[in-house]
Amino acid sequence: MRDYLLFYVNGMRHQISGEQGFQSLSDFLRNDLGLVGTKVVCAEGDCGSCTLLIGRVRNSQFFYESIDSCIMYLYQLDCSHVITVEGLKGDQNIHPVQEAMIEMFGSQCGYCTPGFVMSMAAMLESQETMTRSSIQDGLTGNLCRCTGYEQIIEAALSLNQKDIPKVTKLFNEEKMLLDFRKHVSKAVSSEFEERWNGNSQKIKFYVPATMDEALKFKQKHNDVTLVAGGTDISVQMNKERLEPNCVMSLTHLSSLECFEINEKTLTVGAKLSWSKLEEYCQQHLPQFAEIIEIFASRQIKNAATIAGNIANASPIADSLPFLYVIDAEIELSRYQPNSKVVEKRWVRINKFYHGYKKTEMRPEELITRIRWNLPEVEDILKLYKVSKRKDLDISTFTAGIWLKLKKGEIENVRLAFGGVGPVVLRLSRTEEYLKGKPLILKTLQSAGKIAREEINPISDVRASSGNRLQLSENILEKFFHECCDSRIQKEVA
Ligand SMILES: Cc1cc2nc3c(=O)[nH]c(=O)nc-3n(C[C@H](O)[C@H](O)[C@H](O)COP(=O)(O)OP(=O)(O)OC[C@H]3O[C@@H](n4cnc5c(N)ncnc54)[C@H](O)[C@@H]3O)c2cc1C
Ligand code: FES
Ligand code: FES
Repeated sequence: MRDYLLFYVNGMRHQISGEQGFQSLSDFLRNDLGLVGTKVVCAEGDCGSCTLLIGRVRNSQFFYESIDSCIMYLYQLDCSHVITVEGLKGDQNIHPVQEAMIEMFGSQCGYCTPGFVMSMAAMLESQETMTRSSIQDGLTGNLCRCTGYEQIIEAALSLNQKDIPKVTKLFNEEKMLLDFRKHVSKAVSSEFEERWNGNSQKIKFYVPATMDEALKFKQKHNDVTLVAGGTDISVQMNKERLEPNCVMSLTHLSSLECFEINEKTLTVGAKLSWSKLEEYCQQHLPQFAEIIEIFASRQIKNAATIAGNIANASPIADSLPFLYVIDAEIELSRYQPNSKVVEKRWVRINKFYHGYKKTEMRPEELITRIRWNLPEVEDILKLYKVSKRKDLDISTFTAGIWLKLKKGEIENVRLAFGGVGPVVLRLSRTEEYLKGKPLILKTLQSAGKIAREEINPISDVRASSGNRLQLSENILEKFFHECCDSRIQKEVA
């Protein structure tokens, strides 16, 4: 066991324990290290001005990705290497990305600029070709309020003509790897005493090195706050809606990052990031990949995990309509102290939510894997996210529709709508109505009328209840025109 976190910033070693571990990375850089190139504007992962590169070791190699440092806490950083905008230049005056931003007039007030520079540096690190569409995708998580995006895109495009060495080669990775190798197999446990108004309480963070340690800790500390990517939890902490006094970071549980296809079944680890899942689904499940493409920004998707989305239990979580209609199962694991074994159980997602933010998960359990059967080639699967903006926006309404057809008739169907109740809802009456009916426009129109009777949405800042009722009805007609027109003609023929 260790009582300190170990990580490097721009090649410099840092050991952190106690209260310091409870800082966001951006605060640590700016306040403790004086690296004020990293800016903070929104402090909730929305604007990208705090973007950095974070390198984690997988199979004895560093992999670098962009993240938002305002919502990454130090207890998530053990055995990683952080590169800030100050670390980019090496022996040069400035980095070629910074040069390009100057040459193409990509900066005015400059507040967003370090974030844009770091996002472009991340694209170069992963050897992406700069095209208009890859740039728009890579910079979705960076907002600029004064320059206008055209000049920034021009700056990124101009990088194609430059021969730019990998920034990560500026640092002695061998030295860091050796150091991490000596440390990574030891869990980190550190605490401090917080004194306030005559009271005091112990605040603790724990970073297990193995799954067993994680489950044993959860068994002993039922009220511990789990942090995977932290993209939900850290926003709440920054906004002072949550002040946990015991945190367990899942950073080192790489066994929870699996992706396996066994015949028809796809099994993914709880801690698989949205970026990795998007990459895998592009090949194996394009319908889900389309939704992940418009899920948050690259910085968020590099950190956020599928289990975080499930456990957060939001009725507008974007993964849920898909997981409902594909009939996914969630593996829950816990340590059983009497028999000293790890017990696992699979729960259908359709039985997982008991009410708003209430789940089937017991206090001592962790989500460890999620599995589902891949759709058959002839199945129709369509997923929808309705939001005010296409990119980086919270959903107003979501829907998942899965159909099995036989000779033009609906043999089986699953419908799940989000944003229309306290949990994502399966529409059982509408499903019953659809079974055995011919797949024609009239069927879907009548089903839409039943669907709106099955839900009771509220009005909020994103939409009125009437708007959501109309969306629930119209989405079925939209589905028909998008997916069924040509398909049904083929089936009938
Ligand atoms: C700017 C921004 C944009 C976003 N955009 C979207 C979006 O488009 N669509 C969307 O659906 N969401 C969005 N989110 C929300 C968030 O990114 C997702 O819900 C994400 O999947 C959460 O994963 P995480 O690993 O970061 O969760 P964390 O914040 O680490 O955890 C979330 C919850 O899950 C629990 N948890 C995590 N892992 C486990 C586990 N293995 N077992 C049990 N409990 C666990 C935690 O204790 C916590 O209660 C956005 C968030 C931000 C900040
Ligand atoms: S400050 Fe806006 S994303 Fe971090
Ligand atoms: S240059 Fe001012 S916000 Fe982008």
